[in-house]
Formats: sequence, structure tokens, C-alpha cells
Amino acid sequence: MQKSRVRIQRPLGFLGSDPGLLPLRLVVKLGVNIDHVATLRQARRGIEPEPVTAALLAELAGADWITIHLREDRRHIQDRDVDRLKEVLQIGLDFEMSVAPDIVKKALATRPHFATLVPERREEITTEGGLDVLGQKEIIKEVLETLKGAGIEVSLFVDPDPEVIQASAELGADAVELHTGTYANALKKEDIQKELTRLTNAARQAAQLGLHVFAGHGLNYRNVIPIARIPEMEALNIGHSIISRSIFVGIERAVREMIQLIR
Ligand code: PXP
Repeated sequence: MQKSRVRIQRPLGFLGSDPGLLPLRLVVKLGVNIDHVATLRQARRGIEPEPVTAALLAELAGADWITIHLREDRRHIQDRDVDRLKEVLQIGLDFEMSVAPDIVKKALATRPHFATLVPERREEITTEGGLDVLGQKEIIKEVLETLKGAGIEVSLFVDPDPEVIQASAELGADAVELHTGTYANALKKEDIQKELTRLTNAARQAAQLGLHVFAGHGLNYRNVIPIARIPEMEALNIGHSIISRSIFVGIERAVREMIQLIR
């Protein structure tokens, strides 16, 4: 595993803990997205399955952080889930969020370890693409500065597009999470390779600009390895495939099996 060190000015915090001299990716970290546990609970609007239990078991199995998306329509994660998770987790909490004012307010009240800005459309089944960083620079900058002003580091969920990566760095993001949905949905070998090349180039560019590099969306036990092997990749956020597998093998085993694949 690569152990070179890189000199980059980064703020103190959960993501960039050692300003000046940071180890460059010793292992690829895993963020486990537990939204789908809440989706199942909300199917009956009842009390089970409990997302906090899932999060604690994922923590025990070695997850580096828990990711949740408090959607504007509250279709899965609820405000009280956010509060409870923040209280009980010993690992980090990645708060995925839109730029809507009430969600920003919740983020400020929660003070997660970091926040990930994502696009949100009510009619979508899940997040369908990266943030429109170029088209929505002003609002993204405003929210980013508000969060950073409160000591919350910020990652932007973006497509692997050079202009978007450049703009993310200029806006002052701490990290980018590269959207892997197109890679995950590609069927033909050449399309998969093309997407992998775009992701690899985007990761290199982002790291050169001093950004932490994460990736996620649609990653599973079959397609994750090439993404985990991108040299600059620091962490992956994975939800659906881990929660799906956990129905059959339990969440601890599902998390451990993913960790084995990505490290
Ligand atoms: N990263 C982001 C920003 C997401 O919005 C999602 C889906 O909520 C994920 C990662 C996880 O995607 P999946 O559930 O397909 O693994």
C-alpha cells in the first residue's frame, strides 16, 4: 500500500486532522449509509428496524463512519434518528443534505463530523446525479461557508467532471465524493472502462487540488474493487448493497465483507 506523504494545508477536523503533513491513504475507509434501514421502518411508519441498532452494529464491524441523508420529504431518516445517532456513535457521522434552509438549520444544530451536499429532487427514487456546482455556485458557496463557519467540514457529491472538481476546490470544499452511479450502471466493458478512467482522472485532479477524495453510489460487492484501487481514493460511501446483503447474512458480516474487499 502506498505510504507517501503529501504537504497540504488543511483545517483541523475529522477529515483533515493533521494540517501540513498528512498520510496519503493508508487504507480505504468505509462509510456505511443506513438510510435503507429507515426506509424499511417507514414502510409501516413503526419502530422497527431501528437505524441506531444498524449503525452501532456497523460501527462494531469496523465502519469508519455512518452516512445518513435527511431528505426534505423525510421519506426515510427522521430528525430524531439524526439526534440519536449523533449522541451514540463513537465513529463519525456524515450528514448528507440539500441546501434547503431547514436542513441547513438541522445540520447546524446537529454538528455532524462532516456534511455532504447532495442534489435533491422529490420525484427521484434516489440521488440521481452530482451537484450542479457550476449552475448553483452561489447557494453552494453560501451553505458551504455557513457550515464551515460552524466548524463542520464539507464534502460535495459531484460527477467526475474536471470543471466541477476545479469549481469545488475554488468554492473551498474539504472533500469531493465522486458519483459512481454511471460506472455502476454501465453494462458494456468499454463503458465501464470509460467511466473508470473518468473517475481515476477526477480523483487525481481532486487530490492535486488538496481535496479529500471519496466515492459512492451504486457500489456493490461485484463492482467495488476497481474503485477502491484508484490510488487517491480515501473512502467509499456504500448503502444499498450492504443493507441488502445484511438481510441474509446480518449487518456485521455484510460490513466486514465489504471492508475486506476494499482494503
Ligand atoms: N453517496 C451519496 C452522496 C448518496 O446520496 C448515496 C445514496 O444515498 C450513497 C453514497 C450510497 O449509495 P448506495 O445506496 O447506492 O450505495
